[in-house]
Amino acid sequence: MLRRVRWPGWIVIVVLTLSIITTIAKGSQAIINTDKDSTEKESDVQIEQQDSSKYPGLNLKTKTNETSKYTLSISIPTTKSESINDTIHQWIRKQEDDFLSEVEENQGGFDEDYRAHLNIQVETEKVISGLYNLTFYTYQYAGGANGINTIKSFTIDLNDKKHLMLDDILELDEVGLDVIQKYIKKQLISDKDIKLYLIDDLLDEVLNDSDKWEWSVNKKELTLYFNEYEIAAGAAGVIEVNIPLEKIQSYLKENMISQLKLQFKDDEDKQKQEDKEAEENKNSQEDKDEAQDVQLDPNGKYVALTFDDGPSSTVTPRILATLNEYDALATFFMLGSQVDYYPGMAKKVADAGHEVANHTENHTDLTVANREEIHQEIQNSSDKIYNATGQQPKTVRPPYGAYNETVIDVAKENDESIILWSVDSLDWKSLDANAINEVILNNVAPGSIVLMHDIHDSTADALPELLQSLKEQGYEFITVSQLLELQEAKGIGPHYGTLNY
Ligand code: NI
Repeated sequence: MLRRVRWPGWIVIVVLTLSIITTIAKGSQAIINTDKDSTEKESDVQIEQQDSSKYPGLNLKTKTNETSKYTLSISIPTTKSESINDTIHQWIRKQEDDFLSEVEENQGGFDEDYRAHLNIQVETEKVISGLYNLTFYTYQYAGGANGINTIKSFTIDLNDKKHLMLDDILELDEVGLDVIQKYIKKQLISDKDIKLYLIDDLLDEVLNDSDKWEWSVNKKELTLYFNEYEIAAGAAGVIEVNIPLEKIQSYLKENMISQLKLQFKDDEDKQKQEDKEAEENKNSQEDKDEAQDVQLDPNGKYVALTFDDGPSSTVTPRILATLNEYDALATFFMLGSQVDYYPGMAKKVADAGHEVANHTENHTDLTVANREEIHQEIQNSSDKIYNATGQQPKTVRPPYGAYNETVIDVAKENDESIILWSVDSLDWKSLDANAINEVILNNVAPGSIVLMHDIHDSTADALPELLQSLKEQGYEFITVSQLLELQEAKGIGPHYGTLNY
């Protein structure tokens, strides 16, 4: 005999009510959790901003500018020490001022096809923890037949918050100075290309005044830099002389020797670790190539947002966060010099599915560079981007949009299409979120390539409203390579995206 168990009505009501309450509670908990997550994420980003530089304690920004008369690009490293910064930034400012007054003076004397160009790039070398060589390579073309190359080197000690002077490293008594001078001369003469151009009087003058030496030091050697025309005819160019430390060991300051030697093994291990990481990146690249096969609608309404001159430690993370919020993809035209500082940030861009693209190593005006220099600018940057992200850039954007036949040739050799833009946000000029959005929204069309920069806070400020407005107009956000494929824009380019006129 079956007895049917009937649930009294009140139990059903109680159970239902309880489950509703639980659901509401879970829901509100979920809301609380999301809030917590997002604040946690923010603080993560902030920690990241301080520590994401490959060179702890150092940050880098690339300042660019262009007018009808000139283009300029300056790498500006910054530390947490005001006194270290002051010396470096004052020197940079002086280079810029000198250049601008030279441009002013030479006005009218120019071939109309050329603009003056100033490029200050920095090579950063970590010697030991907290001790860095910052070697600035300046190329200045302000008229006349040739540009001028100069080298300026700073060795900075972040632990003691000071610039290292030569007599922090060397015992420069009479004997010491004499030994070092002889060694330098011997080295110079042994190179027949240099020997030919040496001017002995000039050389003696510089060597006798050690305050005028440009130098850097690492665990292996002391390097001296001589600028064009300083000790030789211009044809010799900038001259570097390397003096192995063991050759001048008895003239090295005691504490310098112990400091440098202690660190030697650590650095070797670190190099091995870095090599290993580059190898792992390579492998993850292969997985990703397969995953990135999205179907796009040929009649869809797409726009390709592009961000130049980064990655930056402060602005790029903000832009990534906004893009993520809107499920938007974009393309980042990175500078090799910035990737050198922030390889982790470059990897984050790639890992979020955005296109990593090439904006040259040092933001050089390629139309005033020779073929070999153009090749270096494109290739070195590609290599750094690949090592950091595991992805080979497929597109390159020449700085200032300046290109010629040689640039096209070299880009072709490197298998990177040249990408310009159809909408210039002028974000670097206005530095104003409202102005940026107004320019873009007034000019955008389906298929546009929009030029922005991930180095200005105002650009990051503009982005949420921009994405919201474009989304409301039915736009979807894709990478440049996706856009080219969609538009069946083949070949080396330059590709501009759809022009709205
Ligand atoms: Ni740029």
